[in-house]
Amino acid sequence: MADEVVDHGRRRFLTVTTAAVGGIGVVAAAVPFVESWQPSARARAAGAPVTQSLKKIEPGQQLIVAWRSLPIFIVNRTPQQLATLPKLNPRLVDPNSDVGQQPAYAKNETRSIKPQWLVMIGICTHLGCVPDYKGKIEPEPFDPNWQGGFYCPCHHSHYDIAGRVYKNMPAPKNMEIPAYHFIDDTTVQIGVDPKGAA
Ligand code: FES
Repeated sequence: MADEVVDHGRRRFLTVTTAAVGGIGVVAAAVPFVESWQPSARARAAGAPVTQSLKKIEPGQQLIVAWRSLPIFIVNRTPQQLATLPKLNPRLVDPNSDVGQQPAYAKNETRSIKPQWLVMIGICTHLGCVPDYKGKIEPEPFDPNWQGGFYCPCHHSHYDIAGRVYKNMPAPKNMEIPAYHFIDDTTVQIGVDPKGAA
C-alpha cells in the first residue's frame, strides 16, 4: 500500500506518456494504471461540473461562480445590452468569434446558447487578470461612448458584453466560453456540453 502511494506520481506520468505516444492497444493496457491513481475527492470536486440556479440574477446583473478555480461570469443580459452587439463589430478584433475561444454551439452573435445568458470564463486574455463588469451603457472615464461590457483594471483591455475584445488593446483574444448547458430554463451546468454537442 505504501508503495502505491509513493509510486502514484510515476505511474501517472508513465500512463500519460504511454497513452500520448501509443495507439489503441496501449490505451487499453493503461486502464489498470488509471484505476490505480484515482484522484482524491477534493481533486474531483475541483474539476467537477458546477450547477447554478439563475433565478436570483436580475436583468443586467452579473454573478460570479467558481469552476476549476476559475471565475465564471454569468450575466443576465438585457435587450438593451444585446442590441449593442452588432453595432460594435467594427471596433472589435474578432467580432465573429473565428478564433476558437468558445465551443461551436456558442460561436454566434451573442456567444451563448441563449442570448439572454452570458456564461464565460472571466479571465483577461492578456495576462490573466479578472476584468470588472461594467454593464451599464453610459460614458466611462476610459470610454465616453461605452456600450457596456468588461474592463480589465490591469492594463485596460476593453471587452463588450459578449466578452469580445476591442481593437488596439493589450488583450489579443476574446474571453473564453466554457462548456456548459441548461438543465432547465433557470439552471445552468458549467463544465458539460449540451447533449449531442460535439
Ligand atoms: S491582464 Fe488584462 S489587460 Fe493585461
